[in-house]
Amino acid sequence: MPWMGFCGVSMTEPETQRLFFALWPGGKQRQMLEEYFALLRGCGGRRVVPENLHITLAFLGSVDAPTRDCLEQAAAAIELPPFTLQLDQLGFWRRPRVIWLGSEQTPTELAGLAIELKKAMLGCGLEPDSRPFHTHLTLMRKAHRPPRENKVPELRWPVKSFALVASETRPEGASYQILKSWELKR
Ligand code: 2AM
Repeated sequence: MPWMGFCGVSMTEPETQRLFFALWPGGKQRQMLEEYFALLRGCGGRRVVPENLHITLAFLGSVDAPTRDCLEQAAAAIELPPFTLQLDQLGFWRRPRVIWLGSEQTPTELAGLAIELKKAMLGCGLEPDSRPFHTHLTLMRKAHRPPRENKVPELRWPVKSFALVASETRPEGASYQILKSWELKR
């Protein structure tokens, strides 16, 4: 049995962080994203707090320090140009009752970025999600009902970088910390 420390964590297992790659909106985009909540009045559920709004590119799970180094090196080697993401529709996932903001057409650069990050995961010994990347920005969890319309006024987000983010679950909810970000370059 592993020796447990005073706080219930194994002292023999390497320390890990729960990580993911994401598109992180800047202040202006975040402000515009907040406006979509007004359209969701009456859907019930729990809003994602504005400072947590993001698009997950690849969920990495619990990662130890050498794997994080490997992922950071792989991310730094990605060469893809900046692009504009047009968010223009609402979606609803029935089981987690999640309402998300998405894109009718995922830009090829974004699909390419998600593929590069899956390759990075494989190269660093992690198993990427076998499902294809789906552009979605979670707005609401445990919604009581789906939105009636799915077409929404479009938000144009000029994407110039992507980030490695650490996630911590706290009693008051998820807390995210950007660890590093990389510019998309031509
Ligand atoms: P979501 O917003 O669509 O729920 C940090 O937890 C991010 O990683 C969240 O944005 C969440 O996406 C995503 N995530 C959390 N757990 C996951 C899992 N087991 N598989 C895939 N993505 C996950």
